[in-house]
Amino acid sequence: MTLCARTRNFSNSNIRYSSLHSSDDVRVWKTRQMLIVRPSVDEWEIAREIRLASLLNTPLAYGTTHSQALRTSEAEWRRRIADPRSALFVVMAGDSPIATASGGEHELHPHARWLYGMYCDPRYRGSEVATSLVRAVSSWVRSQGVSDFGLHVNEALPRAVSFYRRLGFLPTGASEALRRDPTQRLVEYMTNLDENDEL
Ligand SMILES: CC(C)(COP(=O)(O)OP(=O)(O)OC[C@H]1O[C@@H](n2cnc3c(N)ncnc32)[C@H](O)[C@@H]1OP(=O)(O)O)[C@@H](O)C(=O)NCCC(=O)NCCS
Repeated sequence: MTLCARTRNFSNSNIRYSSLHSSDDVRVWKTRQMLIVRPSVDEWEIAREIRLASLLNTPLAYGTTHSQALRTSEAEWRRRIADPRSALFVVMAGDSPIATASGGEHELHPHARWLYGMYCDPRYRGSEVATSLVRAVSSWVRSQGVSDFGLHVNEALPRAVSFYRRLGFLPTGASEALRRDPTQRLVEYMTNLDENDEL
C-alpha cells in the first residue's frame, strides 16, 4: 500500500494529517509512530485482517463472532468500505494493521453517529494509538455535521470502559443485552463533541 502523500499540520493537536486523494476526502492521519488510514475497497483485506484479530482477542467486545466474520465475503467487505454512511479506519505500523474502529449510523439515534468495532493490538495498548484512532473517527463525525457521538461497551470490559470515560464519554443510563449472548450487558455511552475537550 502506498502511503506517501501530501501532509499538513492538523490543528489543535500534534497529529499530522495526510490525504491520499486530491479531493477533500480525509483518508490518512499520520504521527511519528503510525498511520491512520481509511482503506480503499481494494485494500479490504487489511480491514478483514485486523477485524479477525479483534474477534479472536476480545470476543466479548463485539456482536459478531470470529467464525461469522471468517465467512464474510470479499463483496461484503467492499460494500462496507464503500458505504458513504460509515467510515472504517485502520492504524498501520509499517505494513501491519494494529488497530481499527469505524464510525457509522445507529438506527435508534438518527441524530448521532456511533463508534463501532474499536480494537487495539495488545502490544500498542497504553500508547496514543487508541486515543488517536477515536479522534480520527470523531473528526469524521464532525465532518458529517453531527455533534452527538455514542457507543456501546460491554460492562465486563473495565479497561475499555475506563478508556471511553477518559475520552469524555458518559453513560446515558440505557443498556441492552448482547444479542448472541444475553448474559452480556452492553452499556450505552455518549459525548457531545461541541463540549468535549478530549476529542
Ligand atoms: C479498548 C481499547 C481500544 C483501549 O485502548 P488502550 O490503549 O488499552 O487504552 P488506554 O491504555 O489509553 O486506556 C485504558 C484505560 O484503562 C485503564 N485500565 C487498564 N486496565 C484496567 C482494568 N483492568 N480495569 C480498569 N481500568 C483499566 C488504564 O489505566 C487507562 O485509564 P487511564 O488512561 O485513565 O489511566 C483496548 O484496550 C482494546 O482494544 N481492548 C480490547 C477490545 C475492546 O475492549 N474494545 C472495546 C469495544 S467497545
